[in-house]
Amino acid sequence: MERYLVIHGPNLNLLGTRETEVYGKMTLKDINEKLLKEAEKNNIELDILQSNSEGNIIDLLHEHEKFQGIIINPAAYSHYSIAIHDAIRSIDIPIVEVHLSNIHAREDFRKKSVTAAACIGQISGFGYYSYILALYALINKNKL
Ligand code: DQA
Repeated sequence: MERYLVIHGPNLNLLGTRETEVYGKMTLKDINEKLLKEAEKNNIELDILQSNSEGNIIDLLHEHEKFQGIIINPAAYSHYSIAIHDAIRSIDIPIVEVHLSNIHAREDFRKKSVTAAACIGQISGFGYYSYILALYALINKNKL
């Protein structure tokens, strides 16, 4: 059975009440339940973690040995964390970046993701479904 890690970055613990006009009303728990259900259907084991700290996210990436793929929403760190970019680059399993909102349709400072360049791809703009699409991207990638 394949095992993937999902990393939710800073402020995503506040989903459900945070800027609901941008991020919707689903909580992180709701998103995680959807992900776990979809993973189970596909016989994938998922570990899901959230962190508000850049260093923790880097440590999580370093502890990737048990996993065959990672889904990451680096949230605001996407736009400037070269340290997370470097951590992603130093790992040889597929990593998919996701965003709930379409970062390319928002403020200029959000249009650039420095972390996406280190990932196999980025999915942005589909709400919680961005995570589901990322799950299928990993399943498909690992089958090739
Ligand atoms: C986000 C987009 C980021 O620009 C923002 O800082 C977030 C959430 C998203 O999922 O749409 O915190 O990553």
